[in-house]
Amino acid sequence: MITASLLILAAYLLGSVSSAIIVCRLMGLPDPRTQGSNNPGATNVLRIGGKKAAAITLVGDSLKGVLPMLAGHAFSVSPLILAAIGLAAFIGHLYPIFFRFQGGKGVATALGVQFGLDWPIGLCVAAVWLFVAKVLKISSLSGLISMALAPLFVWLFWDVKALIGMQLIITGLLIWRHRSNIRNLLNGTENRIGTSASDAN
Ligand code: G3P
Repeated sequence: MITASLLILAAYLLGSVSSAIIVCRLMGLPDPRTQGSNNPGATNVLRIGGKKAAAITLVGDSLKGVLPMLAGHAFSVSPLILAAIGLAAFIGHLYPIFFRFQGGKGVATALGVQFGLDWPIGLCVAAVWLFVAKVLKISSLSGLISMALAPLFVWLFWDVKALIGMQLIITGLLIWRHRSNIRNLLNGTENRIGTSASDAN
């Protein structure tokens, strides 16, 4: 029980480390919370600082999901504890203790949780993200569609209630965090990939 509690706490704390804010600070870029979409995430870092900064942010935010899940596997925790670890990492990214609980929208960290749970799940979600991004060139829509399908992939590969429940909660929170993007999508003003920070909503 102590091990499980420590793993969940560590997952939340790691999730709270905002890669976007740190990368921008280290690379001398503006704070992503005050530029473009004001979201501390890889898409907004792409607008502000270009591909290299965005790629580092993407990897950093994904690892926040991957590493806690791998730790859970290493300690052979139960599916319920594994689900709690994944949720804790994701919630840390959304509501980071180190940044006044104002975090990102969660796509990269959720993807990390899925890769860490079982890499084929992550691969399926990433493939959907890439396909939608290639065709429609809208990052938020790619995230929303791929994460809406994620519970189905978890169910196909791991028919375990706790883990499907974890993914349903992650997907629900992620949709909630994208409500401004959804509004923009509905009125046709959502940013496309490649929009500069000054033109972004
Ligand atoms: O992963 C975040 C993405 O889905 C939306 O980001 O900056 O366009 O609101 P943004």
